[in-house]
Amino acid sequence: MPSASQYDAIAEQYRRSKSSPLRAYIEAYTFLNLIGDVRGKRVLDLACGEGFYSRRLKALGAASVTGVDISVEMIRLAEQQERNDPQGIDFVCADVCELDDLGEFDVIVAAYLLHYAPSCTDLVRMCRNIKRHMSVTGRFVTLNENPDQAAGQYGGYEQYGFNKTIDKPATDGAQITYFMVAGRELFKFHAHYYARQTYEQVLTDVGFGRVAWHPLMLDPAGIEAHGVDYWQEYLDNPPVIGLECRV
Ligand SMILES: C[S@@+](CC[C@H](N)C(=O)[O-])C[C@H]1O[C@@H](n2cnc3c(N)ncnc32)[C@H](O)[C@@H]1O
Repeated sequence: MPSASQYDAIAEQYRRSKSSPLRAYIEAYTFLNLIGDVRGKRVLDLACGEGFYSRRLKALGAASVTGVDISVEMIRLAEQQERNDPQGIDFVCADVCELDDLGEFDVIVAAYLLHYAPSCTDLVRMCRNIKRHMSVTGRFVTLNENPDQAAGQYGGYEQYGFNKTIDKPATDGAQITYFMVAGRELFKFHAHYYARQTYEQVLTDVGFGRVAWHPLMLDPAGIEAHGVDYWQEYLDNPPVIGLECRV
């Protein structure tokens, strides 16, 4: 069992924040498009939280879905929902840096994981464990902190229900702080900055041959619902980015 995670204290607030327009029209749209067809595939959902994407991917036809998260409280929420509406998803409470063998997977996904590595050494451990669980034809698809965002570009996301800051100097391991609104509650959590080159070097070193960054995508339904102007500020200064790795 991993040690207490910062998400234990904010699990319920984080779960509620998933209902914002941003999550539906950009986050989920981008992530699910990058993941592509999962029908019949063995899926490993790392940093699964309370299982938001684990359930989506199972409903989209994955043969099996295993969700892994370091937070006991997040896994408790995931298992509660699995009990209320069983879909056959396995949830495991574990630190990806120290992951036991869970078998082989065709698609490994993570909506926000790598930037939680507290050090470059932990980042290497995480990536090594991801690679170790992937089939030779498999893919790792993740959403991640945008490493190309300069320190001066942090902030300006209030209208989307969150904000972020970075400690200076903005070099590898620098602490990022997120402030997020869920209903009437404000909560915060921390992540870490790593340069694009650091991610690429680590991923290549553990054996990923192809590493591709992908920009965020906006669901046309989001334009219909909120108008094009609403999204512009976010898309002009994207705080996160997609990343896809193959052997
Ligand atoms: C921003 S939340 C995203 C949760 C989920 N993927 C979603 O989109 O709803 C990040 C999650 O990463 C988990 N996490 C952070 N570091 C981790 C680690 N080393 N191993 C496993 N999970 C981790 C946290 O507990 C948290 O649930």
